[in-house]
Amino acid sequence: MIFEKIIGIGACDEAGIMGKEGKLPWHCPKDLKHFSNTTLDCPIIMGRHTFQSLPAHYLKDRTAIIFTRHPLRLIPKKTQKLASGRVQSAENRFPRRGSYCQYKPPSRESISRQLSIPPPGQLLSLFGYNCPSNQIVVSSLREFFAIEGRFSTLYVIGGAQIYTLFLRENLIQEFILTRINGLYSGDTVFPLSLLKGWPNCRVEETPTFSIHRYAYPCYNYPHKT
Ligand SMILES: NC(=O)c1ccc[n+]([C@@H]2O[C@H](COP(=O)([O-])OP(=O)(O)OC[C@H]3O[C@@H](n4cnc5c(N)ncnc54)[C@H](OP(=O)(O)O)[C@@H]3O)[C@@H](O)[C@H]2O)c1
Repeated sequence: MIFEKIIGIGACDEAGIMGKEGKLPWHCPKDLKHFSNTTLDCPIIMGRHTFQSLPAHYLKDRTAIIFTRHPLRLIPKKTQKLASGRVQSAENRFPRRGSYCQYKPPSRESISRQLSIPPPGQLLSLFGYNCPSNQIVVSSLREFFAIEGRFSTLYVIGGAQIYTLFLRENLIQEFILTRINGLYSGDTVFPLSLLKGWPNCRVEETPTFSIHRYAYPCYNYPHKT
Protein backbone atom coordinates (compact mmCIF):
# COMPACT_ATOMS: atom_id res chain seq x y z
CA MET A 1 0.00 0.00 0.00
CA ILE A 2 1.18 3.48 -0.78
CA PHE A 3 -0.46 6.41 0.98
CA GLU A 4 0.16 10.01 1.91
CA LYS A 5 -1.38 10.15 5.35
CA ILE A 6 -3.80 8.63 7.81
CA ILE A 7 -6.12 10.94 9.73
CA GLY A 8 -8.28 9.96 12.67
CA ILE A 9 -11.75 11.41 13.01
CA GLY A 10 -14.26 10.91 15.80
CA ALA A 11 -16.35 12.41 18.57
CA CYS A 12 -16.63 11.99 22.31
CA ASP A 13 -18.33 13.75 25.19
CA GLU A 14 -16.60 15.69 27.95
CA ALA A 15 -15.66 12.47 29.75
CA GLY A 16 -14.54 10.61 26.61
CA ILE A 17 -17.70 8.51 26.06
CA MET A 18 -18.07 7.75 22.33
CA GLY A 19 -20.46 4.82 21.92
CA LYS A 20 -23.48 3.15 23.45
CA GLU A 21 -24.84 -0.28 22.52
CA GLY A 22 -23.33 -0.13 19.05
CA LYS A 23 -24.55 3.40 18.34
CA LEU A 24 -23.61 6.99 19.02
CA PRO A 25 -24.89 8.16 22.42
CA TRP A 26 -26.15 11.47 21.02
CA HIS A 27 -28.10 12.79 18.09
CA CYS A 28 -25.97 15.50 16.53
CA PRO A 29 -26.73 15.95 12.82
CA LYS A 30 -24.30 18.88 12.53
CA ASP A 31 -21.39 16.75 13.64
CA LEU A 32 -22.44 13.95 11.27
CA LYS A 33 -22.44 16.49 8.47
CA HIS A 34 -18.95 17.61 9.46
CA PHE A 35 -17.87 13.91 9.43
CA SER A 36 -19.41 13.35 5.98
CA ASN A 37 -17.96 16.50 4.47
CA THR A 38 -14.49 15.87 5.88
CA THR A 39 -14.19 12.25 4.81
CA LEU A 40 -16.09 12.63 1.53
CA ASP A 41 -14.82 10.23 -1.16
CA CYS A 42 -11.82 9.19 0.95
CA PRO A 43 -11.18 5.60 1.99
CA ILE A 44 -12.31 4.88 5.55
CA ILE A 45 -10.81 2.41 8.02
CA MET A 46 -12.90 0.90 10.80
CA GLY A 47 -13.45 -1.99 13.17
CA ARG A 48 -16.18 -4.58 12.65
CA HIS A 49 -18.47 -3.07 15.31
CA THR A 50 -18.37 0.34 13.65
CA PHE A 51 -18.87 -1.21 10.21
CA GLN A 52 -21.96 -3.02 11.42
CA SER A 53 -23.33 0.16 12.97
CA LEU A 54 -22.86 2.41 9.93
CA PRO A 55 -25.81 3.35 7.73
CA ALA A 56 -25.22 2.01 4.21
CA HIS A 57 -24.89 5.43 2.59
CA TYR A 58 -21.55 6.03 4.37
CA LEU A 59 -20.16 2.98 2.59
CA LYS A 60 -21.27 3.91 -0.90
CA ASP A 61 -18.82 4.96 -3.61
CA ARG A 62 -15.65 4.73 -1.58
CA THR A 63 -13.24 2.20 -0.22
CA ALA A 64 -13.97 0.81 3.24
CA ILE A 65 -11.29 -1.18 5.06
CA ILE A 66 -12.74 -3.33 7.82
CA PHE A 67 -10.72 -4.90 10.62
CA THR A 68 -11.88 -8.20 12.07
CA ARG A 69 -10.17 -11.28 13.42
CA HIS A 70 -13.38 -13.22 12.70
CA PRO A 71 -14.33 -12.43 9.09
CA LEU A 72 -17.29 -14.82 9.15
CA ARG A 73 -19.00 -12.45 11.61
CA LEU A 74 -19.40 -10.06 8.69
CA ILE A 75 -21.79 -12.39 6.93
CA PRO A 76 -25.26 -10.86 7.14
CA LYS A 77 -27.68 -12.86 9.33
CA LYS A 78 -29.82 -14.09 6.44
CA THR A 79 -26.87 -15.91 4.82
CA GLN A 80 -25.46 -17.25 8.10
CA LYS A 81 -27.48 -20.47 7.97
CA LEU A 82 -25.76 -21.48 4.78
CA ALA A 83 -22.36 -20.52 6.19
CA SER A 84 -22.80 -22.54 9.39
CA GLY A 85 -23.82 -25.57 7.32
CA ARG A 86 -20.54 -25.30 5.47
CA VAL A 87 -18.55 -24.97 8.71
CA GLN A 88 -20.15 -28.18 9.91
CA SER A 89 -19.30 -30.12 6.78
CA ALA A 90 -15.73 -28.78 6.78
CA GLU A 91 -15.30 -29.88 10.41
CA ASN A 92 -16.52 -33.37 9.56
CA ARG A 93 -13.64 -33.83 7.16
CA PHE A 94 -11.12 -33.79 10.03
CA PRO A 95 -10.66 -36.62 12.51
CA ARG A 96 -12.21 -36.04 15.89
CA ARG A 97 -10.26 -36.54 19.11
CA GLY A 98 -9.85 -40.26 19.74
CA SER A 99 -10.26 -41.31 16.10
CA TYR A 100 -6.63 -42.45 15.99
CA CYS A 101 -4.76 -44.15 18.86
CA GLN A 102 -1.92 -41.65 18.87
CA TYR A 103 -3.91 -38.58 18.02
CA LYS A 104 -2.35 -35.37 19.26
CA PRO A 105 -4.23 -32.13 18.76
CA PRO A 106 -2.31 -30.06 16.20
CA SER A 107 -0.95 -26.66 17.19
CA ARG A 108 -2.61 -23.51 15.91
CA GLU A 109 0.47 -22.76 13.75
CA SER A 110 0.52 -26.17 12.15
CA ILE A 111 -3.21 -25.95 11.40
CA SER A 112 -2.81 -22.64 9.60
CA ARG A 113 0.31 -23.95 7.79
CA GLN A 114 -1.43 -27.10 6.62
CA LEU A 115 -4.74 -25.52 5.78
CA SER A 116 -3.12 -22.31 4.53
CA ILE A 117 -6.08 -20.25 5.72
CA PRO A 118 -6.98 -17.84 2.92
CA PRO A 119 -7.16 -14.09 3.44
CA PRO A 120 -10.47 -12.82 4.91
CA GLY A 121 -12.02 -11.78 1.58
CA GLN A 122 -11.40 -15.20 0.04
CA LEU A 123 -12.55 -16.96 3.19
CA LEU A 124 -15.84 -15.09 3.04
CA SER A 125 -16.40 -16.02 -0.58
CA LEU A 126 -15.65 -19.68 0.25
CA PHE A 127 -18.55 -19.38 2.67
CA GLY A 128 -20.82 -18.02 0.00
CA TYR A 129 -20.56 -14.34 0.86
CA ASN A 130 -18.94 -11.94 -1.56
CA CYS A 131 -17.98 -8.57 -0.15
CA PRO A 132 -18.86 -5.61 -2.32
CA SER A 133 -15.80 -4.72 -4.39
CA ASN A 134 -15.22 -1.47 -2.47
CA GLN A 135 -14.97 -3.29 0.89
CA ILE A 136 -11.66 -4.78 1.97
CA VAL A 137 -11.54 -7.01 5.02
CA VAL A 138 -8.27 -7.38 6.94
CA SER A 139 -7.34 -9.35 10.05
CA SER A 140 -4.19 -7.49 11.06
CA LEU A 141 -2.04 -4.45 10.37
CA ARG A 142 0.21 -6.71 8.28
CA GLU A 143 -2.72 -7.46 5.96
CA PHE A 144 -3.67 -3.78 6.02
CA PHE A 145 -0.23 -2.77 4.73
CA ALA A 146 -0.37 -5.51 2.11
CA ILE A 147 -3.46 -3.97 0.46
CA GLU A 148 -2.56 -3.08 -3.08
CA GLY A 149 -3.18 0.47 -4.17
CA ARG A 150 -2.16 4.07 -3.95
CA PHE A 151 -4.13 6.36 -1.65
CA SER A 152 -3.71 9.97 -0.66
CA THR A 153 -5.61 10.40 2.63
CA LEU A 154 -7.20 7.59 4.58
CA TYR A 155 -9.49 8.25 7.55
CA VAL A 156 -9.64 6.05 10.63
CA ILE A 157 -13.26 6.43 11.74
CA GLY A 158 -13.29 4.16 14.82
CA GLY A 159 -14.33 2.64 17.02
CA ALA A 160 -12.27 2.79 20.18
CA GLN A 161 -10.39 -0.45 19.44
CA ILE A 162 -9.25 0.67 16.02
CA TYR A 163 -8.36 4.22 17.15
CA THR A 164 -6.26 2.58 19.87
CA LEU A 165 -4.59 0.21 17.42
CA PHE A 166 -3.61 3.00 15.02
CA LEU A 167 -2.63 5.52 17.71
CA ARG A 168 -0.48 2.99 19.61
CA GLU A 169 1.35 2.11 16.40
CA ASN A 170 1.97 5.82 15.63
CA LEU A 171 0.11 5.52 12.36
CA ILE A 172 -2.05 8.60 12.72
CA GLN A 173 -0.68 11.94 11.66
CA GLU A 174 -3.65 14.12 12.59
CA PHE A 175 -6.75 13.60 14.67
CA ILE A 176 -9.94 15.60 14.20
CA LEU A 177 -11.88 15.20 17.41
CA THR A 178 -15.32 16.62 18.15
CA ARG A 179 -15.97 17.22 21.83
CA ILE A 180 -19.71 17.01 22.41
CA ASN A 181 -20.78 19.25 25.28
CA GLY A 182 -22.16 17.43 28.32
CA LEU A 183 -21.97 13.94 29.77
CA TYR A 184 -23.67 10.90 28.23
CA SER A 185 -24.03 7.32 29.35
CA GLY A 186 -22.25 4.79 27.19
CA ASP A 187 -20.09 1.68 27.00
CA THR A 188 -17.27 2.73 24.67
CA VAL A 189 -14.59 5.22 25.66
CA PHE A 190 -12.34 7.19 23.36
CA PRO A 191 -8.62 6.64 24.13
CA LEU A 192 -7.99 10.29 25.07
CA SER A 193 -4.74 9.40 26.88
CA LEU A 194 -3.18 8.47 23.53
CA LEU A 195 -3.59 12.06 22.28
CA LYS A 196 -1.93 13.47 25.39
CA GLY A 197 0.91 15.82 24.50
CA TRP A 198 -0.22 16.33 20.89
CA PRO A 199 -0.36 20.02 19.96
CA ASN A 200 -3.96 20.89 19.15
CA CYS A 201 -6.17 23.78 18.26
CA ARG A 202 -9.91 24.41 18.30
CA VAL A 203 -11.09 24.80 14.71
CA GLU A 204 -14.81 25.25 15.26
CA GLU A 205 -17.08 26.09 18.16
CA THR A 206 -20.86 25.63 18.20
CA PRO A 207 -23.34 25.74 21.11
CA THR A 208 -23.38 21.90 21.26
CA PHE A 209 -19.84 20.87 20.37
CA SER A 210 -16.35 22.04 19.47
CA ILE A 211 -13.98 20.56 16.91
CA HIS A 212 -10.29 20.15 17.72
CA ARG A 213 -7.46 19.28 15.39
CA TYR A 214 -4.56 17.38 16.90
CA ALA A 215 -1.29 17.08 15.03
CA TYR A 216 1.43 14.59 15.81
CA PRO A 217 4.61 16.67 15.68
CA CYS A 218 7.52 14.59 14.34
CA TYR A 219 5.71 12.23 12.13
CA ASN A 220 7.02 9.39 10.04
CA TYR A 221 5.34 6.22 8.93
CA PRO A 222 7.49 3.35 10.08
CA HIS A 223 5.51 0.83 8.06
CA LYS A 224 5.04 2.81 4.88
CA THR A 225 5.89 0.64 1.88
N1 LIG B 1 -18.16 8.73 18.53
C1 LIG B 1 -17.53 8.33 17.44
O1 LIG B 1 -16.87 9.10 16.75
C2 LIG B 1 -17.60 6.88 17.05
C3 LIG B 1 -16.90 6.43 15.90
C4 LIG B 1 -16.98 5.09 15.59
C5 LIG B 1 -17.69 4.21 16.38
N2 LIG B 1 -18.37 4.69 17.48
C6 LIG B 1 -19.08 3.79 18.37
O2 LIG B 1 -18.11 2.97 19.03
C7 LIG B 1 -18.65 1.66 19.24
C8 LIG B 1 -17.80 0.63 18.52
O3 LIG B 1 -16.46 0.72 18.96
P1 LIG B 1 -15.64 -0.58 19.43
O4 LIG B 1 -14.34 -0.12 20.00
O5 LIG B 1 -16.55 -1.41 20.29
O6 LIG B 1 -15.46 -1.42 18.10
P2 LIG B 1 -14.63 -1.23 16.74
O7 LIG B 1 -13.29 -0.67 17.02
O8 LIG B 1 -15.50 -0.55 15.74
O9 LIG B 1 -14.53 -2.75 16.27
C9 LIG B 1 -13.94 -3.71 17.13
C10 LIG B 1 -13.66 -4.95 16.33
O10 LIG B 1 -12.58 -4.71 15.41
C11 LIG B 1 -11.81 -5.90 15.26
N3 LIG B 1 -10.44 -5.63 15.71
C12 LIG B 1 -10.03 -4.91 16.77
N4 LIG B 1 -8.68 -4.90 16.84
C13 LIG B 1 -8.24 -5.63 15.80
C14 LIG B 1 -6.95 -6.01 15.34
N5 LIG B 1 -5.83 -5.62 15.97
N6 LIG B 1 -6.85 -6.78 14.24
C15 LIG B 1 -7.97 -7.20 13.59
N7 LIG B 1 -9.22 -6.87 13.98
C16 LIG B 1 -9.35 -6.12 15.07
C17 LIG B 1 -12.49 -6.97 16.13
O11 LIG B 1 -13.46 -7.57 15.29
P3 LIG B 1 -13.93 -9.12 15.49
O12 LIG B 1 -14.64 -9.16 16.80
O13 LIG B 1 -14.82 -9.35 14.33
O14 LIG B 1 -12.66 -9.92 15.46
C18 LIG B 1 -13.18 -6.13 17.18
O15 LIG B 1 -14.25 -6.79 17.82
C19 LIG B 1 -20.07 1.73 18.70
O16 LIG B 1 -20.94 2.09 19.76
C20 LIG B 1 -20.02 2.84 17.68
O17 LIG B 1 -21.28 3.44 17.46
C21 LIG B 1 -18.32 6.00 17.83
